[in-house]
Formats: sequence, C-alpha cells, structure tokens
Amino acid sequence: CVLCSGAGLPGAVPSVSGEAAGGFCSAEEGSGSRFGETQSSQGESGDFLALDLGGTNFRVLHVRVVEEEQKMLKMDSQICAIPQEMMLGTGEQLFDHIAACLGDFLVSQDLKGHTLPLGFTFSFPCEQKEIDKSILIRWTKGFKCSGVEGEDVVKLLKEAIQRRGDYDIGSVAMVNDTVGTMMSCGYRDQSCEIGMIIGTGTNACYMEEMKNVKRVEGEAGRMCINTEWGGFGDDGSLRDILTEFDVVVDETSINPGVHTFEKMISGMYLGEIVRLVLVRLAKEKLLFKGQTSKDLLTPNTFQTKFISEIEEEDSGLENAQNILTKLGLKWDDVDSRVVRLVCDTISSRSARLCAAALATLANRIRVNRGLDHLKTTVGVDGTVYRKHPNKELQATVRLLAPKCDITFLVSEDGSGKGAAMVTAVAQRLALQSR
Ligand code: BG6
Ligand code: GLC
Repeated sequence: CVLCSGAGLPGAVPSVSGEAAGGFCSAEEGSGSRFGETQSSQGESGDFLALDLGGTNFRVLHVRVVEEEQKMLKMDSQICAIPQEMMLGTGEQLFDHIAACLGDFLVSQDLKGHTLPLGFTFSFPCEQKEIDKSILIRWTKGFKCSGVEGEDVVKLLKEAIQRRGDYDIGSVAMVNDTVGTMMSCGYRDQSCEIGMIIGTGTNACYMEEMKNVKRVEGEAGRMCINTEWGGFGDDGSLRDILTEFDVVVDETSINPGVHTFEKMISGMYLGEIVRLVLVRLAKEKLLFKGQTSKDLLTPNTFQTKFISEIEEEDSGLENAQNILTKLGLKWDDVDSRVVRLVCDTISSRSARLCAAALATLANRIRVNRGLDHLKTTVGVDGTVYRKHPNKELQATVRLLAPKCDITFLVSEDGSGKGAAMVTAVAQRLALQSR
C-alpha cells in the first residue's frame, strides 16, 4: 500500500527529527530574549518570521517564542495576494514577489535591520535534503512556475532576498504545511502526532518509528514523515473507484496524471466535480428540464464554497436555489433538492476517502508500537475541513480504525507558528553542535 510505505513516498522527508511534538516544551532552559536581543544560546526564545505558501492565502507572520512561559505568540500577520498569472509565471517572479511581501511586512512591523530566523511553510512535494535545503519535486494545486521544479526552494528564496539587498534573514527551516500544523497543535496537545490538511489540497504527516525509516541511519526515536497522500493512486491503484467525472477533472487540470487522490478530495476540485455531475444530469434530462446554461457549461464556475453553502442544514435549499439562479439556470423544487443531494454525495465521498487514509495512518502507528489501543491527536487545518460538516469523516475513521481513539484539534493561526517552532528547535540544535 502506497500509504503505508512511508519513507518510500516521494516527498517523504525527515522533516523534524526527534519527538517533534514535545520538542519545544522539553527544551533546555534558556535565558530568553526580548525582541532585538540575540537568541539565547541554549533555548528557543526570541522573534521569528514565518512564510506560509501553498494554501488559499500566502501569509507572512511575526512570531515570538517566550520559552520560560512556554508561550508562542503570533505578534502580527499579513495576507499577500498572489495573482493567478504569477502562479503560472516564472519562478523568479514568484520568489521576487514573496521577497517583496516579506520586505513590506518587515517595514510595517518596524523589523527592518533585524536579521531574524525564518520558518518557511512550503506546501508542495519536496525532497528535503536538510532543514534548509529542499528540492521541489513538482508543483500541485494550480501553481506551475517555470524553473523551480528540481531546484532548492530555500536557495531561490534567499537569492530573491539578495537581489533586493535591502534586508536580510537569519537561518531558515522549511516545513510542509502538515508538519507546521502538527507542530502548532502539538504545542497545545503533546499527544498530537499526525498533521492533516483538507483544504485547497490534501495531505498528512505522522510520527514514524526510526527503525522503519530506511533512508536514514539509526533505529532510535521517531521521525516525522510527510506522506504526500494526495499522490495516492498515481500508480493506477484507485482506477476501480474513479468516476468519469474524476477522469475529466484530471485531464483538464494543469497537472494531469498526478495527485489522483487529492483530485477526489480537496477544495481545488470538489466544485468542478459537482458541476460535471450536474451537466451530465441535465443532458440526461434528469435536471432543469434538460436545459443547461452558459455558466454551468463553463469549467470552474461552480465554486467549492457553494457546496458547503448548499449543505447548510437550515438555509441549504434556499442557498441552492440562489446559486442556481446566479448560474442562469431555471430550476424547480425537485431540481434544487437533487442538486443538494449531489453536493452531499461528493462531499461525503471526500470525507470518507480522507477518513480511510487517516485510519490507515492511525492503525499503522498503533501496530508499529505493538499497542492494542492507541489514543492520539490529529492536528488539522484547511478550508474544506473547517467549512464542511466533518462528523462523517470522524465517524468513518472510528469505523475503520476501531482500536484508535482519535481527537481532532483544529490549528489556531495556521501552520506559521509551527514553522517558527521548528526554526527555533533547529537553531538551538545548530548552536549546541558548534
Ligand atoms: C492554513 C495553513 O491555515 O491552512 C496553511 O496555515 C495551509 O499552511 C492551509 O496550507 C490549508 O488550507 P487551505 O484551505 O487554505 O488550502
Ligand atoms: C498538496 C501538496 C502537499 C500539501 C497539500 C496540502 O497535496 O502537494 O505538500 O501538504 O497540498 O496543502
């Protein structure tokens, strides 16, 4: 099973070594530092920057770690738009834009002139060679900037900052959003050992026993593995459950043939699947008296957020009717109920598939540890999880992994805090090894 092969997956990386979730809290005592002072030589206190690229929003954050109080504070954050042309332009344009957003943020925070360490959440499949060296395997989720695949993204970021020459950053730690999410949730609940995203894309990371990580020497302890489960099925193993709608979504995407599982589950694709089903039903004369509209026939006009609006318990039917009217369709009461059923079905399939993958990970952790029963926490983020009813996901995980008692903890402030925490730990380890 691709899911279980862990370290063998593309993008399966030794993101954080050691007991990641407990790493910060068990840190040695440090002197702490107020902003502007240098970081303590032993501890993890101080000010950090974080970049969060790959979800709905690109964010820049300023995070302060106060070790003595075991506190991590988000001082401020800013969302920067990334225009669609830039997502499909050159890598140089993209990284120049990121460097410009960071530069503006430093000015707004009065931080220019201070060389702060930076946590970089970069949510795409990478081969992580070092904590600050990570090679992009391929773009996903609507990004396709030239000249980045096969390159070290940390290097590209640093080069863009150097091209500007008006500010500098300290050491960089790069993490996937699943890892950043697990780390920020692990800060609140130390039994958090899985990070899961169901948003624009979908993915999960988990703590694996070192003895099972064949790529890295040593048997002791655990290591965080980024599964890149969105790529499950790329070898054809999901062929039996793919529908004609999944096939069209894949063929018309900017990355056909890859991230098959993600295309059945995540926010970037769910609306389009619903639209294709509605077109088919209309053509079969089972909806809208056989009529379509220009909007309904246009790809990506049925947004994923429509699904959650239509699923709403009280106002769902009314929302469906408003949306159908906006799409230029003539509907009757039965039509709007059928549309609601289609939305429920597509969103429920997404939840169940995700639950199957999560149950696999939880069971793997349980069996690895020789436990009859596992109690664990999943740190979770992503618009699809936040906005859609997630009772079905939780119920399906209970059904498929009855020996695992899973608590779901939604991340606060996204993955940026977790990225800052990884940077803090990496910095302490680097200082200690000097
Ligand atoms: C955010 C995290 O809250 O959620 C990001 O900070 C993550 O790192 C994102 O990528 C995922 O959700 P979405 O829906 O924005 O893709
Ligand atoms: C995509 C990316 C993955 C990320 C996920 C959620 O699947 O490849 O790295 O974690 O989206 O954002």
